[in-house]
Amino acid sequence: MTTTLITGANKGLGFETARQLIEAGHTVYIGSRDPERGRRAAEQLGARLVVLDVTDDASVAAAVKTIEADGGLDVLVNNAGVEGRGEGNTVVGAADVTADMLRSVFETNVFGVVRVTHAFLPLLRQSAAPVVVNVSSGLGSMALVTAPDTPTYAYPGVAYPASKTTVNMITAQYAKAFPAMRINAVEPGYTATDLNGRTGTQTVAEGAEIIVRMARTGPDGPTGGYFDASGPVPW
Ligand SMILES: NC(=O)c1ccc[n+]([C@@H]2O[C@H](COP(=O)([O-])OP(=O)(O)OC[C@H]3O[C@@H](n4cnc5c(N)ncnc54)[C@H](OP(=O)(O)O)[C@@H]3O)[C@@H](O)[C@H]2O)c1
Repeated sequence: MTTTLITGANKGLGFETARQLIEAGHTVYIGSRDPERGRRAAEQLGARLVVLDVTDDASVAAAVKTIEADGGLDVLVNNAGVEGRGEGNTVVGAADVTADMLRSVFETNVFGVVRVTHAFLPLLRQSAAPVVVNVSSGLGSMALVTAPDTPTYAYPGVAYPASKTTVNMITAQYAKAFPAMRINAVEPGYTATDLNGRTGTQTVAEGAEIIVRMARTGPDGPTGGYFDASGPVPW
């Protein structure tokens, strides 16, 4: 039996990842920072709920205790994320971005990943087949963001891409440090969720596919990689 925790799984890609992994036979804990939204989602999915705010040490520590008491963790999906838009729901470009805006996005997308991963390391190390999936973005790819012929090039925001580039670096360094674990970053693709005001061109089922595939990676699968549905993404 594989036990999986997905952060920020009360909606969007996290919710759909939970749905697909439950279908594949995983025991899934969905993390939700809001108890009521989490309860509704868990009920709908047939998942277990942990109230978990990735920016809060105490909340993460409580989630570790709950999951440890229930028998441990095999797969961690660091999915919770924010884009951090500005006034009027606009993407904040280089002329207007502030250190505070960057800090706020990094608090969830970067420090949240480290906080949660660090807290769950003792449980993951006890698993026979530990797996970590960090939900990154194609906007974290230095290669794509600087390639004028790609749609990624046109995105003017600073905080979100910088946070996901950092997630990629964290993924590479953790993968080297823990060779017994499969630790990969994934790019779900542009998916219709609340994160982008539902402007994404893919369905959540399409976007979650690579998250689910990497969550189901066995001990002989890749580690330290960055993948989308069609294969490796250039760093
Ligand atoms: N959609 C895309 O096109 C796309 C593309 C590439 C990568 N991604 C990545 O995919 C992941 C999921 O995004 P999504 O598109 O599914 O967005 P979404 O529908 O907005 O879902 C984001 C989830 O993260 C949760 N969350 C935010 N801050 C949190 C915190 N501090 N603690 C715990 N949970 C928190 C949200 O909870 P609340 O409901 O409480 O806000 C929600 O459950 C993100 O990492 C995002 O960067 C998305």
